[in-house]
Amino acid sequence: MSNLRAAARRAAASAPEKEILSFESYGQRYWLKRGRKTGSNPLHYAAWGLSRFPLLIPVSHQSRREALRHESGKIRRLESLGIPVPRILIEENDWFVMSHTGPTLRHLLYRKDRNETLTLSAFEALGRLHAMGEYHGGSQLRNLTWTNEQIHFIDFEENFSEEVPLETLQLRDLFLLLFSLAKDHIPLDYRRHIDRYRTISGNEDFDRRLRDLFARLGWLEKIITFSPIWSLLDKDTKATYRIIQEIKQL
Ligand SMILES: Nc1ncnc2c1ncn2[C@@H]1O[C@H](COP(=O)(O)OP(=O)(O)O)[C@@H](O)[C@H]1O
Ligand SMILES: [Mg+2]
Repeated sequence: MSNLRAAARRAAASAPEKEILSFESYGQRYWLKRGRKTGSNPLHYAAWGLSRFPLLIPVSHQSRREALRHESGKIRRLESLGIPVPRILIEENDWFVMSHTGPTLRHLLYRKDRNETLTLSAFEALGRLHAMGEYHGGSQLRNLTWTNEQIHFIDFEENFSEEVPLETLQLRDLFLLLFSLAKDHIPLDYRRHIDRYRTISGNEDFDRRLRDLFARLGWLEKIITFSPIWSLLDKDTKATYRIIQEIKQL
């Protein structure tokens, strides 16, 4: 058995409940990930049916093992396309081991290393991924990492019905990235970042599509800006509201 496999089995046995854990072997850091069931509840399906809001597209039901196979398979395929993702080094029935691809963007931006290089790189990387006919599925800041001066994508367990058009999933990716930046109060030149994404992805009309989408939510906006309600809202809704305001002005 290889040294790495032995170290991975030890790490897995030492934390049988953990879904994700890092361990070291010969001075190198690795991540071990277990499968986790995925799926959306009936309320979620209903909300999607009514609103068609891209953030609400229901996630396919997968068993732990299916989710694991889906994720490792997708990472391998993206790697073969030259997309920066971790390398899958070991795969067993219940977990796989991947290389460490650096700190997350959330961590870096949170520590106030708020340089535009990082945020612009994220929009460029997402644009390149989309230009290759792919989508991420979870493009929040905590699922983007930075190593060797390059954005890497992690966390691909979410799967969607084949019926959902690729464009919708890509629009959802772009929205998720904007959403997680707004949620963490990271200041952003929206025009600049979205333009960078559009040029690289070739999705020329995505800013218009976001604007159209938000225009349909005008009634919601009236309700949520009513001040007694505003004070009751959660961070997610407030972040969504902030993005709507920014995008409408583009
Ligand atoms: N290959 C990796 N390189 C660096 N950090 C990682 C890696 N895999 C996971 N992480 C860290 O672990 C966290 C959770 O892993 P992730 O795959 O996103 O699982 P979850 O599905 O629980 O979000 C990430 O946000 C990141 O901080
Ligand atoms: Mg994650």
